[in-house]
Amino acid sequence: MRTQVAIIGGGPSGLLLAQLLHTRGIDSVVLERRSRDYVLSRIRAGVLETGMVDLMTRAGVGERMQREGFIHDGTQFAYDGQMFRIDFADLIGKTVMVYGQTEVTRDLYDAREAAGGVVLHDCSGVTPHDLDTDAPFVTFLRDGAVHRLDCDFVAGCDGFHGPSRQAIPTDVRREYERTYPFGWLGILSETPPVDDELIYANSDRGFALCSMRNANLSRYYIQCDLSDSPDDWTDDAFWDELRRRIPEDAADSLVTGPSIEKSIAPLRSFVCEPMRWGRLFLAGDAAHIVPPTGAKGLNTAASDIHYLFDGFDRHYNQGDAEGLDRYSERALARIWKTQRFSWWMTSQLHRFPDQSAFDLKMQQAELAFLRDNTAAQKALAEAYTGMPY
Ligand code: APR
Ligand code: PHB
Repeated sequence: MRTQVAIIGGGPSGLLLAQLLHTRGIDSVVLERRSRDYVLSRIRAGVLETGMVDLMTRAGVGERMQREGFIHDGTQFAYDGQMFRIDFADLIGKTVMVYGQTEVTRDLYDAREAAGGVVLHDCSGVTPHDLDTDAPFVTFLRDGAVHRLDCDFVAGCDGFHGPSRQAIPTDVRREYERTYPFGWLGILSETPPVDDELIYANSDRGFALCSMRNANLSRYYIQCDLSDSPDDWTDDAFWDELRRRIPEDAADSLVTGPSIEKSIAPLRSFVCEPMRWGRLFLAGDAAHIVPPTGAKGLNTAASDIHYLFDGFDRHYNQGDAEGLDRYSERALARIWKTQRFSWWMTSQLHRFPDQSAFDLKMQQAELAFLRDNTAAQKALAEAYTGMPY
């Protein structure tokens, strides 16, 4: 087999890249370890920056998102018994789109299928080779046979645990990481959201987030101990704890119901530099991870794909190497700003085990400054709705 761009990983990064490349006549093959159903079973965040919305439209997969997604003009913060709203539209004329990552991935899979794109599932032992030559290739096992895919370039879109990042020599790779001393216990319930917009709550019992997927599908999270297991939490225990962490009127109007999904995710900040080695380019979770507090995981993957797609387009259609040569530098410049925002949101909204009384006062001062200061609100609105690519 041969293609121009071999893409390892059929999650949002790999599929979005494949679809965008297709719009510019560039051939790719996606090698995915799991089945399509497994990939689509993942429950992930659903707040899209304007840049991501534009990329989906450019890839020709924006129609259902525009029809079924929800435009949010702002978001809400609750702390110390009070709640305030940041009005993105009024402050900076921008909004976000609430549309689940599962639906983004589904739309991309459908578009790949409709275009006759090659997405190979159930590939194991995917291994990139000769990345430091002008003739790289990828080997993998599928249907009981070993296959070889020759290519010009390899896009490592295989997530945090994939093989691509490991293909960069350890003496070349620099990794930056912070892990957080808590997790997020999240549930999905077929109930109406507690509010029209998201509520980020810093309570004396810990963080809570009220989100949604549609008018009858709600997503809630509470900060939990890393030692917790979803089985430690009955639905009633979850709802009781959520009520204690959100504003009283929200708690009173909360509609509860059976959870249709319940899971715990650890929180991590992580960046790998560089994001290119020879003919290998990392994108999305393969190169970086953010704590979910800022809803930036998918959006940062999208900005990587914006830069990588631009690089491949300029290479193949204009004979210009600068886009690929500067990919890592351009992607990382935006990634670090997103890392900062995600770290700041996580630091201000959670209770840390070793937090002093002074630390708590600093959190409340940060949130009071955000509540009272238009410049601070504009800065948050810019970061939350997405800085320009
Ligand atoms: N071979 C082939 N595919 C692999 C391998 C492998 N060895 N290892 C992982 N994969 C696949 C995974 O099965 C997954 O479908 O790579 C894909 C990576 O997808 P994601 O982990 O979703 O990462 P990405 O596409 O960059 O999307 C980032 O997903 O995890 C969320 O919060 C994250 O919202 C962000 C988004
Ligand atoms: C979600 O809806 O899953 C979600 C929304 C916003 C976040 C994190 C998760 O910051």
